[in-house]
Amino acid sequence: MTRSLACQRDAFSLPGDHHYLNCAYMGPLPRVSEEAAVQGLRKKRFPQVVQVEDFFQPVEELKGRFARLIGAPSGDSVAIVPSVSYGIAAVTGNTELGPGRNIVVMHEQFPANVYPWRRLAEEQGGEVRVVSPRDGCRGQGWSERVLDAIDDATVAVAMGTVHWTDGTRYDLPAVRRRTLEVGAALVVDGSQSVGAAPIDVSVLAPDALICAGYKWLLGPYSVSLAYFGDRYIEGRPVEETWIARKGSEDFRRLVEYQDEYHPGAVRFDVGQRSNFALVPSLSASLALLLEWTPDAIAEYCRDLFAPVLESVPNWGVGVEEEPWRSPHLFGLRLPADVSTHEVQAAFEAHRVAVSFRGSSVRVSPNVYNTADDVAAFLAALKEGMGR
Ligand SMILES: Cc1ncc(COP(=O)(O)O)c(C=O)c1O
Repeated sequence: MTRSLACQRDAFSLPGDHHYLNCAYMGPLPRVSEEAAVQGLRKKRFPQVVQVEDFFQPVEELKGRFARLIGAPSGDSVAIVPSVSYGIAAVTGNTELGPGRNIVVMHEQFPANVYPWRRLAEEQGGEVRVVSPRDGCRGQGWSERVLDAIDDATVAVAMGTVHWTDGTRYDLPAVRRRTLEVGAALVVDGSQSVGAAPIDVSVLAPDALICAGYKWLLGPYSVSLAYFGDRYIEGRPVEETWIARKGSEDFRRLVEYQDEYHPGAVRFDVGQRSNFALVPSLSASLALLLEWTPDAIAEYCRDLFAPVLESVPNWGVGVEEEPWRSPHLFGLRLPADVSTHEVQAAFEAHRVAVSFRGSSVRVSPNVYNTADDVAAFLAALKEGMGR
């Protein structure tokens, strides 16, 4: 059973007169993570305090924490990347496409997991196959279509854990089974759920899982994490960093050039991966997530917004069916007679931060939100819709 979590607003520095429901855009930095970043930056006042171990130990800690969060056996399968785009580049650099073969992606998928595949198709031939949801059925119908789109010529399925615009979930285990049947890779962008929703790579066994650090992982910008399974872990990295090579801990012997990499995913670490401010900061955020647990965070969000999701359908607002909806990230589809512009203005007037994607309102709460935020959200929506 999930242990219930109390509101964690005190762990953040959010202003009291705003209602931040936009973690899908960017997660606020917890106080401890801000402090860790400041401490790290301060080390550069007197560089002599930056020790050799500062290049390694905080990185190991961060990778270990991410591994625990996603169910990987150790941090050895985790790389520090600056962005999802970079992590996907590591994957596409180790993927052969070619005429007659295809990559499967979702309709309106976040571009970081689309452009690299398009370039691969341009360079090598082959198709990027886009799977659209069935009319009026984003949930189950969409996942069924994904399965139908995978065939013997599929090289990889590249998708999110959930859709970034409205949190629609996919049947990832079924997709994994189908990809294994045809020998295709499963490359998952977890940016919009990992941290706030449970995932276990020891069960799902994706070939890669890449997560932006600055959303649900509650980290700073420009530091992200990538898990690589056996298919890629010995692949060709994007860069040839010196720190990825065997023996790099011994700074006196760096020009005794080594052909071998450190074992594991280290080769995929970005150059200067040991960033003394960003790494401890993201690591502090992951420590909080491990303490709170993604299960309890999801439960917290579900409980908080249950009254909203029960009442808004009465106003003609469309919401995804429960099993396919994410508790931490969901879209409200406004009825045709409602002006998105007016709803947006009402949210601004009530200082409620959400995102607008087409005619949908994207709502993405987290553990710092309160019943007060929910009340402000409902008041703004009601006013904006003229109900
Ligand atoms: C699903 C998803 N992936 C990735 C990103 C960010 O990509 P990158 O780290 O390459 O900037 C976003 C940003 O909104 C996102 O929603």
